[in-house]
Amino acid sequence: HKQIKKICCIGAGYVGGPTCSVIALKAPHIQVTIVDLNQARIDAWNSDQLPIYEPGLEEVVKVARGRNLFFSTDVEKSINEADLIFVSVNTPTKKSGIGRGYAADLGYVEAATRNIAKVATSSKIVVEKSTVPCRTAQSMRKILEANGKPGVHFDILSNPEFLAEGTAIGDLFNPDRVLIGSLDTPAGKSAASSLVEVYANWVKPDQIITTNLWSSELSKLVANALLAQRISSINAISAICEATGADVDEVAYACGLDTRIGPKFLKASVGFGGSCFQKDILNLVYLSESLHLPEVAAYWKQVVDINEYQKTRFTKRIISSLFNTLTNKRIALFGFAFKKDTGDTRESAAITLCQYFREEKAKVAIYDPKVEESQIWYDLKEVGKGDSLEAIQQQVEIAADPFAAAEGADAIVIATEWDMFKDTNLDYEKLYSIMNKPAFVFDGRLIVDRAKLEAIGFKVEQIGKSTRDHGYE
Ligand code: NAI
Repeated sequence: HKQIKKICCIGAGYVGGPTCSVIALKAPHIQVTIVDLNQARIDAWNSDQLPIYEPGLEEVVKVARGRNLFFSTDVEKSINEADLIFVSVNTPTKKSGIGRGYAADLGYVEAATRNIAKVATSSKIVVEKSTVPCRTAQSMRKILEANGKPGVHFDILSNPEFLAEGTAIGDLFNPDRVLIGSLDTPAGKSAASSLVEVYANWVKPDQIITTNLWSSELSKLVANALLAQRISSINAISAICEATGADVDEVAYACGLDTRIGPKFLKASVGFGGSCFQKDILNLVYLSESLHLPEVAAYWKQVVDINEYQKTRFTKRIISSLFNTLTNKRIALFGFAFKKDTGDTRESAAITLCQYFREEKAKVAIYDPKVEESQIWYDLKEVGKGDSLEAIQQQVEIAADPFAAAEGADAIVIATEWDMFKDTNLDYEKLYSIMNKPAFVFDGRLIVDRAKLEAIGFKVEQIGKSTRDHGYE
């Protein structure tokens, strides 16, 4: 098989950036160029202020950048020089047309693929890194074959990415597995071997698995569906806990000790967010419907429905606890990212909560340690049902720290599980002293010690925990 000397990665986002930076770090003999159409993003990758926050990423980039790692907007040049090209562009849910709200928008993948076909003057291995519907590799092959230059051959591989934001660098250094799908032909298998060799620079051989293309594509959707299903399952149980006096942490712990179930991803919360879970499940739902399997579609759709239910349910609990009205009450919203250790807000539960609070005519003060202000305004405008930024800003402010957010507030709502919001790291006595009374904490992430906060004077409501026996219901 061919030895890879130069790699081009199309798409310098949350996946392409960290993944190919780690390849460059671990395989110093390979030249890696990450390209993007977005000039500002590339400029940021080339600066001290990287465009995404990810623990450990800066260190990796600092070592490899300028050595064998480059960031550029010269997409064509980089494609043409490379032996292997990762397609790592966004695949959001379609907003209009057939399949809107469910199907993946493959416009970016197709544009990148057409660009490869147009400019490649030598044979290439093209790798799907983006999460795509099953059989997308087939469409890519057709486009490449129909538009490629004579004599130029393309092999297509599927190599879905399993990293999780917030722990991307650790996940890439030490993956549970690397999955590579190829056609079951000599050329396909040889291309797969070339990519195996790239990962073998740091990943153990038995953790690199090869399958056919369609298994590989489908496995990524299924992995995300199964992960999200665990969250929706425990979140559904959290509703039962609140109504009965069972404690969802205790239930998750007791169940998770069963080795067939396992302890991970059984943490109840206000709901999962992130750019992938919802999009990939809806993509699976759409695939099922396209294959005339409505029961299968309905089964997986329920995972997303429970996630929405959880956000509404939490909001209702907040309203009823705050004496059935939020009008003109000030709510300190702690956290805006979809989870801790990332600045990413895509599909964050905090966005939905903030919109619900606005509809209830509350004032909201948001604090997040990593999310850019401009991103918060952008997200609130998107979800704001046509409201102008000025209208939104009459109800919402962005605070510089948790205390500024809590000043005069009736309630703290914890939406993201940042470590700094834990009662061991944040001065809740001081927060209590500057809030309106009764002062409430609504813990959507199960990160505070209720007894400790109650001792200070707070009324505490937590997902999956009943307040029945606490004398203030
Ligand atoms: P992103 O939106 O952060 O990055 C995609 C980048 O591709 C953008 O910077 C965009 O400007 C660029 N791009 C789009 N079309 C282009 C073109 N034709 N030429 C050059 N650049 C182009 O997206 P993210 O989060 O990195 O996701 C990429 C893919 O990876 C998606 O399919 C996603 O489902 C998948 N994925 C994401 C994970 C995550 O945690 N974010 C984890 C695993 C997979």
